[in-house]
Amino acid sequence: MLKHDFDELVNRKKTECKKWDTYADDVIPMWIADTDFKCPQPVINAMVKRAEHGIYGYPVNCKTFEQSIINWQKKRFGWNVDIDWVEYTPAVVPAIVYAMRAFTNPGDNIVIQMPAYHPFHDIIPNNGRHILGNNLILKEDGSYEVDYENLEELLSKKRTTMFLLCSPHNPVGKCFTREELTRISELCLKHNVFVVSDEIHSDIIYRGSKHIPFGSLSQEAADNCVVCVNPSKTFNIAGVRTGAVIIPNRHNHDLFYAPLENNKAYGRTVFGTLPIEVSYNECDYYADQLVEYLQDNLEYLENFVSTRIPKIKVSKTQATYLIWLNCKELNMGPKELHRFFLEEAKVAMNEGSTFGPGGAGFMRLNIACPRSRLVEALERMEAAINKR
Ligand SMILES: Cc1ncc(COP(=O)(O)O)c(C=O)c1O
Repeated sequence: MLKHDFDELVNRKKTECKKWDTYADDVIPMWIADTDFKCPQPVINAMVKRAEHGIYGYPVNCKTFEQSIINWQKKRFGWNVDIDWVEYTPAVVPAIVYAMRAFTNPGDNIVIQMPAYHPFHDIIPNNGRHILGNNLILKEDGSYEVDYENLEELLSKKRTTMFLLCSPHNPVGKCFTREELTRISELCLKHNVFVVSDEIHSDIIYRGSKHIPFGSLSQEAADNCVVCVNPSKTFNIAGVRTGAVIIPNRHNHDLFYAPLENNKAYGRTVFGTLPIEVSYNECDYYADQLVEYLQDNLEYLENFVSTRIPKIKVSKTQATYLIWLNCKELNMGPKELHRFFLEEAKVAMNEGSTFGPGGAGFMRLNIACPRSRLVEALERMEAAINKR
């Protein structure tokens, strides 16, 4: 079996890299959600071979892309997906926008769970829809629960037509159980609210949790959803700007496809679909080893923080490599927290209030990096806090 070296320190500076080319050279960037790991060797080999062919003309749809998505859903989550349910999309966030245009009207309400992945805060109002926030409830042990009573209240409003679920949840790292998802699905069905399930983080699941694709819950759930997927988080290929949706219901599929067709946004790119196909078909070994490595990073972080920086509390993390740090005991406002970690510790993280209600006082730390870099970042944070 192939073995990937996740300890390798790869220089990403000056590669038009948002993560590394945004901050000064002395800052460790642990913010935006991509990893510092090279993508799998079979992907690199396939990309080089394709590049060497030397002709990059219009691609034809041979359905190998769709098949790779079917293969992954079956292997990893036991979901039987039909080839007609899968559509190419230009990445996940654009797919959510197309779904919003297909299944809702300007002026409608869209429910999201707060705190929420920051682009959700932009794309909904930018498309003339209103955000209704269903605040996740923070428990004493750092885990989060759904406020069903409030959720039902929001879903039952006259102009609520969509629930945008982030499963697993960024930024709080929650992996929803089957029971939770079923209850959400039933409430949405009861109030005639369509579900878009963003499952981009579904491969990074820690011990004790299990990802359930929303469309696999029941026939009724399948008929009432669009599931968005992308291997970009897992295999570090976000820059190829390609993703997919799975829409089990034919009528919904056609509704979704119409704006894509009207905007001629269905054109694939030769370097977009290829890494997805190779990742999904040949790189299970990499996903397995990545999750193991991240699990160790998470445990290292939890130990370090609880013993050496006890003023910070690590939220209960069931999924994703984005760790939600409760920094309220540091008694700093959001702007000051961001400034403090960036300028005093020289570690760039995402500041919690940018994720909306429930986010102030938190920082989001990306631990998808070689262990040595994580250790250095934590030591810098510890030293800066001790110096205060
Ligand atoms: C929940 C979630 N959805 C979507 C995205 C971005 O997806 P894409 O790059 O495919 O548009 C991210 C990236 O961080 C994310 O965390």
